Amino acid sequence: MATSAQRDGFTSTLGVLAATLGSAVGLGNIWKFPALTGSYGGAGFLLIYLCATLLVGLPVMIAELAIGRRARANPIAALKSLAPGRPWWLVGVTGMVAAFMIMAFYSEVVAWVFAYVWKSVEGSALSSEAAVTEGAFAALVSSPWQSLIWQWVVLLLIGGILLRGVSGGIEAVTKRLMPLLFLLLAALCVFSLTLNGAPQGLAFLFSPDFSKVDGSVVLTAVGLAFFKMSIGMGTMMTYGSYFRSDQNIPLTAGRVMCADLAVSLLAGIAIFPAVFTFGFEPTAGPSLVFITLPAVFAQLPFGQALMFVFFVLTSIAAIGAMLSLLEVPVLILHERLGMTRRRAIAVSLLVVGVLGAGCALSMNLLASWRVMGRSLFDLLDFLSSNVLLPIGGILIALFVGWVWGRDAFIAAVSNDGSRENRRLASSLVLVLRYVSPVLILLVMLNGLGVI
Ligand code: TRP
Repeated sequence: MATSAQRDGFTSTLGVLAATLGSAVGLGNIWKFPALTGSYGGAGFLLIYLCATLLVGLPVMIAELAIGRRARANPIAALKSLAPGRPWWLVGVTGMVAAFMIMAFYSEVVAWVFAYVWKSVEGSALSSEAAVTEGAFAALVSSPWQSLIWQWVVLLLIGGILLRGVSGGIEAVTKRLMPLLFLLLAALCVFSLTLNGAPQGLAFLFSPDFSKVDGSVVLTAVGLAFFKMSIGMGTMMTYGSYFRSDQNIPLTAGRVMCADLAVSLLAGIAIFPAVFTFGFEPTAGPSLVFITLPAVFAQLPFGQALMFVFFVLTSIAAIGAMLSLLEVPVLILHERLGMTRRRAIAVSLLVVGVLGAGCALSMNLLASWRVMGRSLFDLLDFLSSNVLLPIGGILIALFVGWVWGRDAFIAAVSNDGSRENRRLASSLVLVLRYVSPVLILLVMLNGLGVI
């Protein structure tokens, strides 16, 4: 088993920020956020999402990072060592299951994104007729081989980066890619704001309309906040275990939250003005990015180049997120089962490959196969965001608030007294004890139609 002396970790404050932000920023910002905001009426949804981020997302993220850094171990071992002899480590086990479930559908969407980078080089899939862009997307999704091969490309790339370790792989790659992502996104925004539909697009994003908001929409917003901040399943515990001892956890979490929010908003600013300019509906849902956007790009000057930039930046976002998802089972297999890192990566990729193939094929060969009225792809997406992550969030909040305890949490967050985070930490304990779990539970039961 790896000892703490040999343990790899992030080497600088910038590296910590890049990796953690790399985990948070992903398809959630560029694919889910605009699609959900578009479907649920724009700014009303955004406002609920903001509240969820602040009231539950940030405290749970700080809690996870603190647990991980204190224990300096994978989520299962971390919870075992902080609550010996009690079953809290099961949260780490469900986290690993959730990681596989998320990766199964996530890797398929990343596969489409990679395929679209290729399509934008070729110039295919670019047409001002929505029917044509729809056909191009349908052709990709309905081809079993194309779906699978692109998915394997994604998995091999992520596995290859993880093979180089935490500092040499995750940190080195995200440190280079994250600035590029901001640059590309900012360029797209500037361009989008010059279009005729800009005022309409901005109004859609920023003036609240609550008519489409009900219990299940609130749950979706809370689920999105969890998904966005990569919390509720041990990713942030895992990354916390790589934080340096002098790292300011609340400050880092706050920065990541703000930057992640900025990326979501910038993605909205890049997308909605363009969508409105050409008279498309913002409510296309998941296909907004793959069907509506190419039709929009086709009508813009330099459309092909813009499409290339857009899908490259989406790939960058997705890579950082996939790295953090895969690192969860890899570290568990490595530390708990004593596998070498190489073998842990191979085994994890195999599991994702099999589950992921199920998701990829649920759109073509296995399309008639439905569980609870949903395809495997939709089911895993729904279960992970709307059930597993919120339950994980409740348990982590309860663990810190009631089990690990106030003093231990304060000591962890204030770097054993060397940082002035004590006041903040003691209010956070109250939030984690009373506010976050109750809020998540109510939203969940209401959203699922139980109350
Ligand atoms: N936050 C990432 C995104 O927005 C996805 C992600 C990475 C994630 N790690 C996670 C979601 C852990 C839930 C849990 O795309």
